[in-house]
Amino acid sequence: MIFGVIGAGQMGSGIAQVAAQSGFQVILRDVEERFLERARSGMQASLGKLHEKGRLEETPEAVLERVRFTTRLEDFAQADLVVEAIVEHEPTKLELFRTLGSVVQPQGVLASNTSSIPITRLATASGRPERFIGMHFMNPVPLMALVEVIRGYSTSDETAAFITETARKMGKTPIECNDFPGFVSNRILMPMINEAVQCVMEGVATPEAIDGIMKLGMNHPMGPLTLADFIGLDTCLSIMEVLHHGLGDDKYRPSPLLRKMVQAGLLGRKSGRGFYSYA
Ligand code: NAI
Repeated sequence: MIFGVIGAGQMGSGIAQVAAQSGFQVILRDVEERFLERARSGMQASLGKLHEKGRLEETPEAVLERVRFTTRLEDFAQADLVVEAIVEHEPTKLELFRTLGSVVQPQGVLASNTSSIPITRLATASGRPERFIGMHFMNPVPLMALVEVIRGYSTSDETAAFITETARKMGKTPIECNDFPGFVSNRILMPMINEAVQCVMEGVATPEAIDGIMKLGMNHPMGPLTLADFIGLDTCLSIMEVLHHGLGDDKYRPSPLLRKMVQAGLLGRKSGRGFYSYA
């Protein structure tokens, strides 16, 4: 099976890595060579760690041989599945799916890893809504078990079954839900993160104290602000905006501090600074 991935950021490179580990022939695309190089070295390092721990029998090089890195969309013509993992920006995703709909062979399935953009809208743009679905991996992809599978309005049973089976072949546990803003995972997670940001803004406690309380008190593996830095504050803001517009209730209003930090370029781990410093 040819497994395409578009967007070689933290999610796309993780999805491509796990697909290659599972034996699929992978094509990974980004807009510039330097992003592909960054992805390749990230994957090499992650595979190296898994190999050292005895959790990967093959060498990292053998796995990477199954990944073709490209900047060309035409290379996806023969793909059986293409998972999109580009920026969380609806007009950019719509444009990509319009193009993919005409580039990828008609029987190919298109999937989005979007955290919150309506699957049904992306499906319509692709021109093949029955063979379109949400395939939402968790971060970091090589370590997290869940794939949230989101059916759009017209997704066929055959497409849902194919994605469920593919997720299982990747060693993941697929769980299905329907197409509502934020699906299940982010509808519940993001308001908690947003509330933690609001606590920082109001001076309720320091980021360290907020994370400490949620970790030790709720038995969460990571505090909400550490998690926000990990996800990317820009991605968190986009998801809150989708929840706010899509569900209409002011309880989903993005915290002004979250907005301000994104405007200031404090995006979390990926920019070197968010609620914490990563220099
Ligand atoms: P990222 O910012 O790390 O990577 C996005 C990549 O897409 C960048 O390398 C960028 O150059 C590339 N890109 C942008 N436009 C492109 C195009 N037209 N063609 C090919 N590549 C393009 O973002 P991240 O965190 O990997 O997120 C990607 C998607 O995954 C988003 O939809 C996000 O909501 C979703 N997601 C993110 C999670 C997270 O924890 N960060 C968790 C689950 C889903």
